[in-house]
Amino acid sequence: MGPSLLFLLLLGLLSSAGSLPPPRTSFLLGAPSRPLALFGPPDVLNASSLLLSGDGATLYVGARDAVLSLDVSQSDVIRLKKKVEWRPTQSETDSCQSKGRDAAVDCPNFVGVVQMMNSSHLYVCGSFAFSPKDAFIDAESFLMERRVDGRAKARCPHSPVQRSAAISVDGELFTATTTDFRGVEPQISRHFSQDGRPDVSQDSSVRLLEEPVFVGSSSDPSQKKLYFFFTEVGKEFSFMDEVRIPRVAQVCKDDVGGQRTLQNKWTSFSKAPLLCQVPKQLPFNVVQDVFTLRPPEGGNASETLFYGVFTSQWSSGPESAVCVFRLQDVRAAFSGSYRTFDMETHQLSSLLGKASNLGQCGLDSASDLDLAQVKKSFLTSGSITGDPIVVSGGHQYSRVAAMRTRAASGDQYTVLFLLTESGRIHKVALLDRGPRVVEEIQVFTQPQLVKSLVLSSSKGVLYVGTSEGVTAVPVARCSVYTRCSQCVLARDPLCGWSRTGSACTGLDGRHHDIAQDLKGGNVGETCGGETTTPQVTEVVVHLNEAVRLRCLKPSNLATLTWTSPGFKSLPEELFIPSADGGLIFFAAAATFGSYRCEAEEDGYREVVASYVVQQVAAPDLRRDARSGKETPEIARVQESFYGELVAVSSLLAVCVVALALGGLAAWRRRKAGLEARRLVGPEDGGRTNGCTESVPSLSRPEDAGAVTEPRGRSVAQEAAQQM
Ligand SMILES: *[C@@H]1O[C@H](CO)[C@@H](O)[C@H](O)[C@H]1NC(C)=O
Ligand SMILES: *[C@@H]1O[C@H](CO)[C@@H](O)[C@H](O)[C@H]1NC(C)=O
Ligand SMILES: *[C@@H]1O[C@H](CO)[C@@H](O)[C@H](O)[C@H]1NC(C)=O
Repeated sequence: MGPSLLFLLLLGLLSSAGSLPPPRTSFLLGAPSRPLALFGPPDVLNASSLLLSGDGATLYVGARDAVLSLDVSQSDVIRLKKKVEWRPTQSETDSCQSKGRDAAVDCPNFVGVVQMMNSSHLYVCGSFAFSPKDAFIDAESFLMERRVDGRAKARCPHSPVQRSAAISVDGELFTATTTDFRGVEPQISRHFSQDGRPDVSQDSSVRLLEEPVFVGSSSDPSQKKLYFFFTEVGKEFSFMDEVRIPRVAQVCKDDVGGQRTLQNKWTSFSKAPLLCQVPKQLPFNVVQDVFTLRPPEGGNASETLFYGVFTSQWSSGPESAVCVFRLQDVRAAFSGSYRTFDMETHQLSSLLGKASNLGQCGLDSASDLDLAQVKKSFLTSGSITGDPIVVSGGHQYSRVAAMRTRAASGDQYTVLFLLTESGRIHKVALLDRGPRVVEEIQVFTQPQLVKSLVLSSSKGVLYVGTSEGVTAVPVARCSVYTRCSQCVLARDPLCGWSRTGSACTGLDGRHHDIAQDLKGGNVGETCGGETTTPQVTEVVVHLNEAVRLRCLKPSNLATLTWTSPGFKSLPEELFIPSADGGLIFFAAAATFGSYRCEAEEDGYREVVASYVVQQVAAPDLRRDARSGKETPEIARVQESFYGELVAVSSLLAVCVVALALGGLAAWRRRKAGLEARRLVGPEDGGRTNGCTESVPSLSRPEDAGAVTEPRGRSVAQEAAQQM
């Protein structure tokens, strides 16, 4: 084992992670073109857990000192329906504080578990001043009914920031959490067991879990099994450094423990390593979140998929991956061969071989001999290998949700929603040619200790819970694409161009009449030659005046080119491209004329801005050449450009002074002076040194209004303006 992992380590150092392409469009928080519904009143803090009701109309929220029920029946507004306060008493807070915890930060009741227990009741569990408590809530009246006065030991953690997992099945609750104040004793157990059967927990004679961090749970109803996902220290590796290993653990739903051996303990507990690795690289060995994607109605349950977000213990920067695991492979691993724990040496031996009953349900009446074997065979020898479908070298993903959708072609596509540590949702379409970040939507600005995602794919809304509140993010807003070309280039499986409606719309089960090309993004064919030419904007200026023409990229993936019929290609000495896609030059005999800005994306070119730059007719009167009317807009343009000129000149002065003070040789100073002069000269505008490169950045957002720009601005333009 040792040498092979070391080999992996070396390989990992030699290759760098392949990266996801950048998001095609980006929306900052509050961008009007991509509205979100926010529920965040100041008295409702720390939305630690979210649960959507079966009909998708109510969102239950475990918050700080409260449990809420929110009306989410409309996708654009979130309304508070009911709220139940649930806070520790002063003496409980004092006691928490006396144990060294911060009264305001640690000692409130952070409700981290909200589960639907049966048709009428919710189950909630909270940290309750570092002394967990739980309760039932009547979902209808929202009254807290049975306040379990005892402690909720092994149901949710003491610490508000420690993660745990809980899942309720048929009125019973299965949890994976720590059970002690320090949060170091892990336990997977069943509570509220039905039909008089005993609650079941882990065998404590062997260390079954090693410092696990639980991140999620799932169920396999057809095999009556439950799964818990976590990362723990891998004791099968004997290294100086602790190697962490992502795993899935299973228990059988109906396990009641053995008769003499393993009384009231799981006879079905076992765990298996998960492998999320890009060939020839170090594995991503820390699981952050897992989403269960069940097959469409009528599908075979064995086609269930688990999408896991992984990071790496060895990363130096933000880096993460999404791997997809098949339920079939999980089942196969648990019914395969197991390692054996040697009770004397406390080592996990290599292989035991295949024992027919290990990992199976129904061992309650197995012989003591068999159960003795079960006790020490809890780790499968094989790993469950996931398929790395998204690898990001620039983002630290922490949560994932996934949905299937039928595209216009009739093919099924998967869309992932990945939450970055920096508060953005990346909507990733898994297309035939690889993953594509269709949109990036900012949902919060400060890194969050707690965060959760809940997806309602039927309603098309993603809910994000954080310390700041709950945000509803519609899974798509097709109307941001105003032209067929942009609608098709987006390659969003959820959006298509309606030929009859002449608009980009959601599919809603319609497939005819919808233009969409997820494979090629081929606009020419798909949009049937539909072309749009932007209005020509006239810019009237004085001789030697600075001219700045705007052009904003329709998407982050587009590249812009400026052309003018007067030039084969725009000479560098005359034209300065600005960082935001614009073009800067000085009005001169050679530069009066027309200009077009073209965007190119995926082989498709279109004109996105078009200008005619003319000399003002009567130099001393700022009058529009055609109509003779005063044009205050042009006046403002000029003022702003004069301002810019002043700024540029002072900047240059600073540069020259700096160079002089540097005590450079005379010839060098002269050369620099020459260069500097060349840079401002109205006749040419090369960009050769640091002083002039700051010219484009002199443009401030306020300037935007001063420059006339074509109508029909696209999303990306709007989004860019938000920045
Ligand atoms: C649901 O569970 C609660 C709490 O155990 C119980 O009081 C209630 O009767 C149950 N309701 C149904 C319909 O089973
Ligand atoms: C589901 O698929 C599995 C594996 O392909 C197969 O063994 C099983 O019979 C299928 N179940 C049903 C209900 O079709
Ligand atoms: C609770 O919210 C506050 C402010 O919104 C935040 O500073 C704190 O870290 C949050 N605590 C937890 C446990 O999320």
